[in-house]
Amino acid sequence: MSSRPQLYDFHGVAMTHCVTDNWEKVKNFQARPDDILIATYPKAGTTWVSYILDLLYFGHLSPERQTSIPIYERVPFLEIAVSTVAPGTELADRLPTSPRLIKTHLPVQLVPQSFWDQNCRMVYVARNAKDNMVSFYHFDRMNMVQPEPGEWSSYFQRFLDGQMLYGSWYDHVGNWWKKTKTYPKLHYMFYEDIAEDTEKEIDKLCSFLGLSPSAEDKKTIVELVHFDNMKNNEMTNCSKLNFLDFKISPFMRKGKVGDWKTHFTVAQNEAFDEDYKSKMKDPTLRFRTEI
Ligand code: PPS
Repeated sequence: MSSRPQLYDFHGVAMTHCVTDNWEKVKNFQARPDDILIATYPKAGTTWVSYILDLLYFGHLSPERQTSIPIYERVPFLEIAVSTVAPGTELADRLPTSPRLIKTHLPVQLVPQSFWDQNCRMVYVARNAKDNMVSFYHFDRMNMVQPEPGEWSSYFQRFLDGQMLYGSWYDHVGNWWKKTKTYPKLHYMFYEDIAEDTEKEIDKLCSFLGLSPSAEDKKTIVELVHFDNMKNNEMTNCSKLNFLDFKISPFMRKGKVGDWKTHFTVAQNEAFDEDYKSKMKDPTLRFRTEI
């Protein structure tokens, strides 16, 4: 396999060429007022929430759409620029739907200006750092366009140091959280809450979006977005992406809160908690590492 991309400093954030090669087009992307931006640090539940939103808006469209267009085409990944798939900006420009659902992992300060100018609605999903780190590790193992993860112990340290694609988890979740104080059209969600009570989180999303699905539709959505169903659904499990090696690890891996306990040593957990306290000073931003 050809060599993995390397991290480099891009406007103060660790990035790879796979998400910056198309930067001029990303930066100048023309958002529309009804676009909905789904923003996350990688592995926080992007695909889950993308599918929930897709079903809320377009679940009633033709069944062919549900069985022939993978979720990463229905909800394009704005900044992706790898040779085997169309650039995210192009896919987004070609989207026939209204609203357009668009995914990004960009830290808040790098979101293209037009999304703010158009006052677009945004949904941010955050996941507790411990599970996020573990999920990212397995993703980096199986994703050939991600930097080589190396061994778990060195990966653990790199995560704490913010040397991950898209930079520091702490900065990412914290800066998006701060943005909720000044930008009312931003809905901040937590992976753990969706895992605990999917329907309740769908209700909150609907009230943010001004949607009122029937009780029956909601029930159907809760069922379709269940981990096992998404894992077995070729349109949501990313199995057709040729740069992912499912022999190493599946994209829909475990889908659990608390899987970090099977990876962190006692010493790592103590070091993590100590470091976490020094970085996460805002008492209003709280994560749960178990439910
Ligand atoms: S990506 O590549 O950044 O877009 O990945 P992302 O979709 O954000 O995160 C993938 C992790 O989310 C889990 N996932 C789910 N968990 C529970 N229920 C559902 N329906 C679900 N869908 C995706 C997925 O399994 C990855 O987490 P891990 O812990 O690795 O299993």
